[in-house]
Amino acid sequence: MKILVTGGAGFIGSNFVLYWMQNHPEDHLTNLDKLTYAGNLENLASVQNNPNYTFVKGDICDATLVNELVKDIDVIVHFAAESHVDRSIMDPSAFVKTNVLGTQVILDAARNNGNKRIHHVSTDEVFGSLGLGEQTAFNEQTPYNPHSPYSASKAGSDHLVRAYHDTYGLPITISNCSNNYGPYMFPEKLFPLAITNLIEGKKVPVYGDGMQVRDWLYVEDHCRAIDLILQKGKIGDTYCIGGLTEDIPNIVAIKKIIALLGKDETSIEYVKDRPGHDVRYAVDWSKIHNELGWAPQYDFDTYLERMVKWYQEHEQWWKDIKSGEYQKFYKKQYQQR
Ligand code: NAD
Ligand code: TYD
Repeated sequence: MKILVTGGAGFIGSNFVLYWMQNHPEDHLTNLDKLTYAGNLENLASVQNNPNYTFVKGDICDATLVNELVKDIDVIVHFAAESHVDRSIMDPSAFVKTNVLGTQVILDAARNNGNKRIHHVSTDEVFGSLGLGEQTAFNEQTPYNPHSPYSASKAGSDHLVRAYHDTYGLPITISNCSNNYGPYMFPEKLFPLAITNLIEGKKVPVYGDGMQVRDWLYVEDHCRAIDLILQKGKIGDTYCIGGLTEDIPNIVAIKKIIALLGKDETSIEYVKDRPGHDVRYAVDWSKIHNELGWAPQYDFDTYLERMVKWYQEHEQWWKDIKSGEYQKFYKKQYQQR
């Protein structure tokens, strides 16, 4: 099989490329990535010389390029996106362009080349926010109610994907997953920011009171879920993917990371809250569990320990990132708090 991955140099995309090359070595994988600040070819060093792997530097908004690539492809897995909520609050334009218009370009290319199968990777953030202390969770029937420019742009892309299925019969599937964590996670996101700041002897910025809840999904479990959807998922369907069955507030997760690194709670710095901050995400992943037999392989504590260890063992990887353009973003983001 020939598979096109978009955004395969980012956090989840690169984990997926490595997963796919290891588990489906007979397939040919093409990775289309613009290499924005979030794309990093270092993540893919171990496959760059594999004859079954091709990297193409390019923009998913470039219809000519995308059309040319899709001609020779059986399946598209679409990760490419602007993905960081705080950056979307600073400047939404790139989010609308890549996440909405870029997705439309991908859909048109799939449609114009014989209705190619496409799996669209989306987020639980399209559903909005749940109340703290509630027992509820997002599922495939939850109405869309996005709050940030990021989640609104992802919601727009999901609607387009479904519309292309309903209107043109494009064979699509969508997954709405919760917050991923694991290796190669860019250090602007909470967990890698906390881990790397602590290793550097810096404080961890916690928004508001830190009682917000995210549903943490280990990236490798996510890759297995997409693999199952590609193999056994029902065309036209959506699958919600989460990693937990009970709430873990941010501050509790941060304290676990602090303990794993042998630090103490003086490393916590409470800072001004994010505007429009969604207080709680939780995902009911019973559909993918019941229909496709998927479940997380290990528990949160086991995976968190594994992630912390990975960052301890890959200091050069994140130090290279933290010494670049990232510094300007960090200053702008945290000086006002
Ligand atoms: P990321 O920001 O780490 O990586 C995005 C990748 O897309 C980068 O390699 C970047 O260079 C590339 N890219 C951006 N704009 C592009 C363009 N116009 N053309 C081609 N490539 C472009 O993102 P991630 O965290 O790996 O997320 C991947 C996907 O998963 C996204 O669609 C995101 O919305 C979704 N998702 C992420 C999470 C999470 O916790 N990280 C949770 C749910 C859903
Ligand atoms: P983030 O990793 O940005 O993911 P998302 O906003 O897409 O869920 O943030 C995860 C949670 O951590 C979210 O509730 C915001 C919070 N947070 C902090 O408390 N401090 C920080 O410095 C960052 C980046 C996030």
